Amino acid sequence: MKSLFASMISIGAYAPKKLLTNADLETMVDTTDEWITKRTGIKTRHIAADDQAASDLGYEAAKLAIARSGLLPSDIDLVIVATLSGDYLFMPSTAAVLAGKLGVRNIPSFDVLAACSGFIYGVATGKAFIESGMASNVLVVGTEASSRFMDYTDRSVCILFGDGAGACVLTATDDESKAIVDVKISGDGTLWDYLTIEGGSRHPVREGGEHPPFMRMKGNETFKLAVKTLSADVVEILARNNLTSEAITHFIPHQANLRIIKAVGETLKLRDDQIVLTIERFGNTSAASIPMAINELYESHKLKTGDLMLLDAFGGGLTWGSALVRFGGK
Ligand code: ACO
Repeated sequence: MKSLFASMISIGAYAPKKLLTNADLETMVDTTDEWITKRTGIKTRHIAADDQAASDLGYEAAKLAIARSGLLPSDIDLVIVATLSGDYLFMPSTAAVLAGKLGVRNIPSFDVLAACSGFIYGVATGKAFIESGMASNVLVVGTEASSRFMDYTDRSVCILFGDGAGACVLTATDDESKAIVDVKISGDGTLWDYLTIEGGSRHPVREGGEHPPFMRMKGNETFKLAVKTLSADVVEILARNNLTSEAITHFIPHQANLRIIKAVGETLKLRDDQIVLTIERFGNTSAASIPMAINELYESHKLKTGDLMLLDAFGGGLTWGSALVRFGGK
């Protein structure tokens, strides 16, 4: 019997039109373009329109990914959405809403909640479904309208985040040269309080509450752990696949902070041309940041069939993960 692998055969992304610049933020909180640029590398972020929720952004990215896969929406037999800013508080899942928008019925759909690591958790899940024969064509979407959960008086968080979505199609193949090589996901729940959004059963939001639940972050503690963990994660996944960083065509880290990415790149001795950066224009789009970055590569014609991508993410939970993916698309 031939081995069954999962292959990422297409990518798509969407960024809402409205821009929030550092100059805009200077008028909203006590900050400066200079501080934000120097400490984070961010210049602009995209913000969802009032009538756009996470599923709307995800829908645009998903349509593109499905069209580029050569499949029809009706070929998709599992929808996974990674988000921390879903349309509804727990029910229905954003994956269900998105499947409805795509018109795909009678298939499973569910959300993965792993903050900024969500896309890699989603890819890990999709790969496992395909390799076990439980699904053949999986849509994995990372989508965020996290601006809805920003406290625009808290300068330590609101300057970081932007909205957007990315999506890919994973499909079953017996061609190892186009397969996802390995995915490694992990976390440390003892550090759950580093990044939070209240509003669940611990602190339910009452109707008519003063404001929506806000994202809170222990920024500096998170920063230090992010650099260490993102680097260690890459060392481990390369070692267990007998690879060196030289073998990587594209390193696609979660875009949380340019200083984190640079520090990880230096530790791993990656060349600048291996590292994909989108943070300056999009800020931190959480679960959407990695597929949006893959899409940037694709649309700038830098992503070729068989290229080895190394994905690396870290986020609330705490969660982290890395993936070695040979691009299976054209
Ligand atoms: N403008 C001006 N000054 C600011 C701002 C701002 N926007 N924000 C903070 N400061 C000030 C602080 O008040 C502090 O002032 P003080 O020295 O007078 O007390 C000073 O800058 C330094 O603050 P730090 O928090 O130590 O700054 P740091 O260098 O750590 O940068 C940042 C903050 C950008 C948030 C950084 O810590 C970071 O990127 N953290 C990691 C984010 C991350 O990776 N998150 C995980 C993924 S996100 C997810 O999962 C949802």
